[in-house]
Amino acid sequence: MDARPSRYHDVYARWQRDPLGFWGEAAAAIDWYEPPKKVFDPQAGIYGRWFTGGVCNTCFNAVDRHVLSGRNNQPALIYDSPVTETRQTFTYGRLLSEVQLLGAMLRDFGVDKGDRVIIYMPMVPEAVFAMLACARIGAIHSVVFGGFAAKELATRIDDAKPKVILSASCGLEGTRVVPYKPLLDQAITLARHKPEACLILQRPQCEAPLVAGRDHDWRARWEHAVNYAKTSECVPVAATDPLYILYTSGTTGVPKGVVRDNGGHMVALKWSMQYLYGVDPGEVYWAASDVGWVVGHSYIVYAPLLHGCTTILYEGKPVGTPDAGAFWRVISEHKAVALFTAPTAFRAIKKEDPDGALIAKYDLSRFRTLFLAGERADPPTVAWAERVLKVPVIDHWWQTETGWCIAGNPVGLGQLPVKHGSACVPMPGYTVDIVDDSCRPVAANTVGSIVVKLPLPPACLPTLWGQDERFKEAYLAEFPGYYKTADAGYKDEDGYIYVMSRTDDIINVAGHRLSTGGMEEVLASHPDVAECAVLGVRDPLKGEVPCGFIVLKAGVNRPHEEIEKEVVALVRDKIGPVAAFKLAITVARLPKTRSGKILRGTIKKIADGDPWTMPATIDDPAILDEIAAALKEHGLGA
Ligand code: COA
Ligand code: AMP
Repeated sequence: MDARPSRYHDVYARWQRDPLGFWGEAAAAIDWYEPPKKVFDPQAGIYGRWFTGGVCNTCFNAVDRHVLSGRNNQPALIYDSPVTETRQTFTYGRLLSEVQLLGAMLRDFGVDKGDRVIIYMPMVPEAVFAMLACARIGAIHSVVFGGFAAKELATRIDDAKPKVILSASCGLEGTRVVPYKPLLDQAITLARHKPEACLILQRPQCEAPLVAGRDHDWRARWEHAVNYAKTSECVPVAATDPLYILYTSGTTGVPKGVVRDNGGHMVALKWSMQYLYGVDPGEVYWAASDVGWVVGHSYIVYAPLLHGCTTILYEGKPVGTPDAGAFWRVISEHKAVALFTAPTAFRAIKKEDPDGALIAKYDLSRFRTLFLAGERADPPTVAWAERVLKVPVIDHWWQTETGWCIAGNPVGLGQLPVKHGSACVPMPGYTVDIVDDSCRPVAANTVGSIVVKLPLPPACLPTLWGQDERFKEAYLAEFPGYYKTADAGYKDEDGYIYVMSRTDDIINVAGHRLSTGGMEEVLASHPDVAECAVLGVRDPLKGEVPCGFIVLKAGVNRPHEEIEKEVVALVRDKIGPVAAFKLAITVARLPKTRSGKILRGTIKKIADGDPWTMPATIDDPAILDEIAAALKEHGLGA
């Protein structure tokens, strides 16, 4: 750890004194066609907008400007794919020509500024080119994670109404080939909105038949574009124009389309690379996530490129591709200085290689910091990573909605002491309070709702796509003057933030955010199910996994196991394998309050083997014994 005192407190105080001056200065690190007229306009948008009047282009800042300033031959993107045994390096110069070509290909399909493009792709370089090409021509991309099923993709198609969809024939999950094209076809059949064209990247592991008149072969269009020397220029967009929509689980089955703008996003992400992650331009930065998640958007694609770093796109897993040394191999081979991943990946590695013995095989001398986010970093995992890696392990907390860190330990400003279990302190831009149900701040070390004072800083969502009212209702209504994070936790006497749980129905499975309400909707659609409840139960690897309870309709006398298997398959089919829904338990009745509310919290405590008390409002206490017995049969509970 740096022996000098951290500059964090001074920098945070500077932001508090003069937020506009602070962000105005940060904005100078970005190239603008027209500088913003106002750093922040409180009258614009729902809670104000950042950098109004500014005109810019995110692709220009992420690619072109580095080529112009001497990084032409520096690697921009390293594609490392143990599942296909491929490694490919794209310099900034090569990245620019790929993005220019793809931008031109999209324009040939009539894609224009403001049009939406869905990207449903595995972790291949073309997915990154696609995001940047959209940014280049002012189109709005919406990347959909590959582990979602056709129905989820269809919901997003209907909401975003893309002109074009970019996809691939298949993804590779470890040794398993996952065909994407049948899911895409099914999604387009299910969706009311039909895209005008689909561009399909054929992968040799599983080629897909193309639909005449709608589907186009990526490679053929690329060759055509090369032969005709096609190119595309950066289209100037307003700082407040949307760069992308990223759907995330909401409290119902309908996902929320989080909108990200161009200007504020660039400013905050660029700032974070230097001061939060402590990485210099030219260094190699690796986020082991997926481009389908916000971490992938911000820290595989945009932030490292905006900062002039080399970023790594890793198509593999922490274990099994081929072993638990995979991460160390990537770090040493590509000389990464920082790794950002979810704690679940480290739990997976620890399980396979408890002493970290594989680390000794690799040269990690350049590796400086491990960053964890996506779920609570449990202290044993943090302690293990510190012990085996001998570098600082930094937990930091953020959400799809914010696009970057709310609370973290800014190593670029000088690392603060690490406290296991805490995501550390708020970043400049965020005033984080812990409040009770009446929005009154609670004392230190008291658990409450975690809220962020408005306005949210640059990069955070200005609204939900096409749903201003839902945005206000879901995030701004409950705690006036604040953004509701829907996380609960506390601050200690040093102002360190501890994020403990969600206050809504979201669970976090292997760092993936899922709605139990959405799963309940699927279970309830089974013809034999009368009632159901889904909750997250503790899991040593994934943090939490969903567990469903079903009550069958009267008169249903098929074997329970058969129906349980069917509902498990239904969730996989309707939501996708990413839900990791493998456990459904049939019970005679569900425990409820006298007003009919299912006691999910109490069931969860029983399942996790935690101490629990009989809720005073329970309708029939005997039901909890039945639940405990059913859980015990499945190896859960005390
Ligand atoms: N396309 C298709 N299927 C996918 C997929 C994708 N892009 N990503 C995951 N899936 C499938 C998996 O194959 C698995 O299917 P299965 O039920 O048939 O085995 C299922 O979805 C669940 O995936 P996951 O929860 O990731 O479990 P896993 O057993 O494959 O891997 C870990 C477990 C811990 C190794 C893995 O979750 C991991 O590396 N997590 C890192 C977390 C992360 O990247 N978080 C993002 C935010 S930082
Ligand atoms: P997502 O939008 O998928 O990034 O998920 C965001 C949610 O994940 C947050 O609201 C938290 O519930 C959880 N989360 C993310 N990072 C952390 C962290 N460092 N500590 C605790 N919870 C986290």
